[in-house]
Amino acid sequence: PSFEYLLLEKRPSGVAIIQLNRPKALNALCLGLLEELVNLLQTLDKDSSVRSIVLTGAGKGYKNVENLFFFFLAVRIKFCLFGSKKKKKKKESKAFSAGADIKEMEPKNYMDVYKEDMFTIADKIAYNVRKPIIAAVNGFALGGGCELAMTCDIIIASDKAKFGQPEINLGTIPGIGGTQRLTRAIGKSRAMELCLTGDLITAQQASEWGLVSRVVPHEKVLQEAIDVAEKIAKKSVPIAIICKEAVNRSFESSLKEGVLFERRLFHSTFSTKDQKEGMSAFSQKKEAKWQDA
Ligand code: HXC
Repeated sequence: PSFEYLLLEKRPSGVAIIQLNRPKALNALCLGLLEELVNLLQTLDKDSSVRSIVLTGAGKGYKNVENLFFFFLAVRIKFCLFGSKKKKKKKESKAFSAGADIKEMEPKNYMDVYKEDMFTIADKIAYNVRKPIIAAVNGFALGGGCELAMTCDIIIASDKAKFGQPEINLGTIPGIGGTQRLTRAIGKSRAMELCLTGDLITAQQASEWGLVSRVVPHEKVLQEAIDVAEKIAKKSVPIAIICKEAVNRSFESSLKEGVLFERRLFHSTFSTKDQKEGMSAFSQKKEAKWQDA
């Protein structure tokens, strides 16, 4: 499939890498982008060659190793054509996503956003995509960008990443679950502070507050996310899906309900071939060969 706002790479390891690709607008989430993203995620979810997904933002820092040859070729050709004369380049900040597209939202009134049920489509990422998604946050994750990262299952941040919910500075509030997921992730006082002041926090701060799993040097963030995705891709897909479902239930239920839900899912894994395989491989000191069944 071809996309206007995304780049997709599917690796033989079973990892699909999606890049939000509007770098000139800091990967702002226009409705077209969100629609493409949700459709693609749902397609990958059904694609048996895909076992886990990485989501990141396009920008200067992304190096597709397989395309490095062409990159250097392009640099050489450019050098030959234009010499080494340095041109004044437009500053291109790196971003995961700077949030919902402000220019697209600006002219809309209440009935417009109500009728289109603006951003409801994004709920499908959190509730309808069953395979694990790892966000590689390679720069700004603001407003809808921070919310999008929070709908993913694991967040790995570049040391240059910045997080925030600055909607209050635009006269609005978060609209893709920011007030809810951020509060559950970092607690009320910190979430209130971010949402009410619109201040941005560094990746380090986000890590100390538990919003992200870890912070890595900027140029390593994508590879680090791919490594995690590949580790997950080596597990049984249905068991990983069941596991994700159980963890996510902790956001939606009381502790007792959650524990009961987990118990039922745990029991259900005993109906799978992969539970038999995993446990017998352990006993026989062999590596498990998952059948995804
Ligand atoms: C549309 C955006 C944008 C956005 C940046 N751009 N963010 N366009 N929507 N959210 C555009 C700029 O207009 C500019 O385009 C280009 O991207 C580069 O941005 P600059 O501002 O020049 O870059 P820089 O000086 O590096 O500043 C980076 C920044 C700043 C701090 C991230 O761009 C910024 O504050 N952006 C808005 C962040 C924000 O408020 N997000 C929340 C959105 S509301 P031109 O054409 O001028 O080069 C939201 C909540 C809605 O998400 C409800 C739920 C989703």
